[in-house]
Amino acid sequence: MAAAEKPPVTGFGPLNCVVGWVDARFPLIKLWEEQWGKYIAPKNFNFWYYFGSLAAFVLVLQIVTGIFLTMNYKPDATQAFASVEYIMREVPFGWLIRYMHSTGASAFFIVVYLHMFRSLLYGSHRQPRELLWIFGVLIYLCLMGEAFFGYLLPWGQMSFWGAQVIVNLFGSVPFIGPDLSEWIRGDYVISDATLNRFFAFHVIAIPLVLIGLVAAHLTALHEVGSNNPDGVEIKKQPKDPQTGLPLDGIYSHPYYTIKDLYGVAVFLFVFAIVVFFAPEMGGYFLEANNFIPADSLKTPPHIAPVWYFTPYYSILRAIPPLFNSQFPGVAAMGAATLILFFLPWLDRSPVKSIRYRGPIYKVALTAFVVTFLLLGYLGTEPTNVWGQFGPWLGNVERATVIARIGTLIYFAFFVLMPWYSRIDKVKPEPQRLT
Ligand code: HEM
Repeated sequence: MAAAEKPPVTGFGPLNCVVGWVDARFPLIKLWEEQWGKYIAPKNFNFWYYFGSLAAFVLVLQIVTGIFLTMNYKPDATQAFASVEYIMREVPFGWLIRYMHSTGASAFFIVVYLHMFRSLLYGSHRQPRELLWIFGVLIYLCLMGEAFFGYLLPWGQMSFWGAQVIVNLFGSVPFIGPDLSEWIRGDYVISDATLNRFFAFHVIAIPLVLIGLVAAHLTALHEVGSNNPDGVEIKKQPKDPQTGLPLDGIYSHPYYTIKDLYGVAVFLFVFAIVVFFAPEMGGYFLEANNFIPADSLKTPPHIAPVWYFTPYYSILRAIPPLFNSQFPGVAAMGAATLILFFLPWLDRSPVKSIRYRGPIYKVALTAFVVTFLLLGYLGTEPTNVWGQFGPWLGNVERATVIARIGTLIYFAFFVLMPWYSRIDKVKPEPQRLT
């Protein structure tokens, strides 16, 4: 019956009848048109709008390369390290797949950080996109879990000791801490049991959740519509009598399909340079210590997480212990990520885009970004990297003092936002895109 009600499918050449047959039994064309083909987007997307589609591209890249790695990887404490070496040296193009996956992990975070920064620029987290933002923050948390679990799998020194340090942190939670960290490890130390469960989380549990969240993220986006560099809601505009579209709206397809494909091409160019010429990226993407098999009896002199975790790691180290417990630092690190959920309600500015915000927000955002990068750098270094102040200042390490100031700025950006975003001197938002 459905087939009789729908107009015949055209535009697929010789495949018209196949697509028509499927479409009569499944909302193929409807889904495509609703989610992309007839999705109406503002016509002024700029550079910052490349990173959503790039994040989706990298997600697919990670899943595909991950599947191929799994074909030769052994999640077993006695074989894991050797199986990765086997992939690197013996499996045809194994080195390429592995470097694509390890570089892809860092690329994912670069792309997602830029994607999140765009929201701060243009107020994309603001009403009516709060839920879209919340799905985004959940994706970000899942991504951190995914990267953390994945990093244990090569079973190198950094895998082992990094996991040891992070899981031990859970031990500082009052009352339940020691039991909690033992429960996460499945043993008293990081062991084969831990490797097995981290493997299960890395290859199936978290990717499933991630894919579900990305689907929810995109569904929410297509329900409320995209924001844009002017922060103007095109849905509120009158319709063009000729096209029936909002005055500043265009179809995603083919306009943004082409734009996004261009982004993917440029991305692949840069990605290939890193994969082929600098896959370790001076130790930032793959650490030298991780080319040494895990040894539970030899602690590496300097243990630091991979760069994308280091801003939070800096916050953790900046907070002094209380009664010999690291819990305050752990709580601050948790709060630093969870505070992102509240951003849509902390921001009280009458305008969305930085183009119309006043000087206070511009200064606050710049300070926040500089601080985030600085905390990130400090987290990769030992705390004595800049030496220490003299005895007159208690011999405290300079980097620790800077990290404490950075931590204050990080939280101040969010906590003071309801105040400074309201008193800032804004310019009126235009009716049309500029
Ligand atoms: C796997 C990770 C992610 C994927 C695949 C993804 C995908 C996308 C895509 C395709 C868009 C539309 C195109 C664009 O605006 O660039 C989008 C928009 C958006 N995303 Fe994400 N995203 C991801 C992670 C995140 C994260 C971590 C956040 C924030 C915490 C976030 C927040 C947003 C917001 C607020 C928008 C609307 C932007 C606007 O219309 O101005 N996304 N996302």
